[in-house]
Amino acid sequence: MPMATGPQRILITGGAGFIGSHTCLVLLEAGRQLVVLDNFSNSSSESLRRVVKLAGGDGADRLLLVEGDIRNPTDLNRAFLALGDQGPIEAVVHFAGLKAVGESVAAPLQYWDVNVVGTLQLLAAMQAHTCRTLVFSSSATVYGMPEQVPIPESAAIQPINPYGKTKAAVEQILADLQASSSLTGEHWRIACLRYFNPVGAHPSGRIGEDPLGVPSNLFPLVSQVASGQREVLHVYGDDWPTADGTGERDFIHVMDLAEGHQAALDHLLAMDPALLTLNLGSGQGHTVLQVVEAYEQASGRSVPSQVVDRRAGDAPRSVADPSAAKHRLGWRCRRSLKEMCRDSWCWQLQNPSGYRLHHS
Ligand code: NAD
Ligand code: WQD
Repeated sequence: MPMATGPQRILITGGAGFIGSHTCLVLLEAGRQLVVLDNFSNSSSESLRRVVKLAGGDGADRLLLVEGDIRNPTDLNRAFLALGDQGPIEAVVHFAGLKAVGESVAAPLQYWDVNVVGTLQLLAAMQAHTCRTLVFSSSATVYGMPEQVPIPESAAIQPINPYGKTKAAVEQILADLQASSSLTGEHWRIACLRYFNPVGAHPSGRIGEDPLGVPSNLFPLVSQVASGQREVLHVYGDDWPTADGTGERDFIHVMDLAEGHQAALDHLLAMDPALLTLNLGSGQGHTVLQVVEAYEQASGRSVPSQVVDRRAGDAPRSVADPSAAKHRLGWRCRRSLKEMCRDSWCWQLQNPSGYRLHHS
């Protein structure tokens, strides 16, 4: 097991979810002690059961689960005290939140409540427990319709839906909090990580993305079409200004993303108190049709597709300029589109119903 250099005892909110579960595995493999706080509103404890199994050794002893809600101070308190005399929580990785763009338009109050009020409660608990190191899950969605591609972190923040607005609002709160350090003597170290399009799964196929109900993102839909659960993939427009006319995105393998969190945590503790805002993406764009082709090759199945109207709110292209993360963290994406498709397919084949009905 590699020696951990950063914080040892870490609270992971939303650790049972898609990105959280993969990050828990990477952090366990690096020898960290984790407390996961999750209310399972969009996940199941099965993911964590598999995470500790994959980690092997004493993994199960180093992941403590607290079932609870980030909006509830009592639940937060339980999480911060969960390790007892093993020592205090030294850092928080904050994944918990709601993330469906369409749902956020229909239920904006719920999104502001969970994503913003929930984060405020978490920050209050961090203050109470003298923990001032935080990695926050932001999103490329804060750029809205990007004016420039590849997108640098300095690009305008102009979210176009309630979900994106909640992420931008939390970034603003964190900037204000960090700026207060010099007045209060509370030395906050904060990383806002703007993920591009996370996809794929752990190569074992044991953990992966398990959307509830009908997925809205491209990869889960493509994998369900490849497996025959869905007949056809609707391609939202083929008249965009891209190589083949279909939307172009910066897909990032979830294991690269998980490793990015580890790098951010290590970096935060090594630096002076500061706010770090970084894109986590590969810097490479792939179109919808390129994804379909790569998935067909990886799975050996056909993915029938049909072009339909553009989807409201879609940007033609969204690709990261990832140079700041490379420079600051020494981190970059290492896994290809081929590996994203291969690992997504491996997860899909082994878990056709996600974590449901398949507890092996
Ligand atoms: P996910 O839904 O799989 O994971 C979120 C987890 O948070 C789930 O386990 C859920 O049960 C938990 N949760 C939700 N509300 C909670 C609450 N009130 N209290 C405690 N736990 C709660 O999502 P994900 O894809 O793993 O995303 C993780 C984070 O990354 C989110 O904040 C999301 O907005 C952000 N993000 C995701 C993407 C993406 O495409 N997946 C892209 C950019 C940013
Ligand atoms: C990718 C491309 C679609 C489905 C969303 C959120 C963003 C972030 C990640 C959290 C686009 C096309 C899709 C389909 C298609 N989440 N597509 N047919 O829209 O880039 O980002 O998820 O932060 O906030 O907005 O991802 O996977 O939905 O779409 O043609 O059935 O695939 O038009 O070009 P998106 P996506």
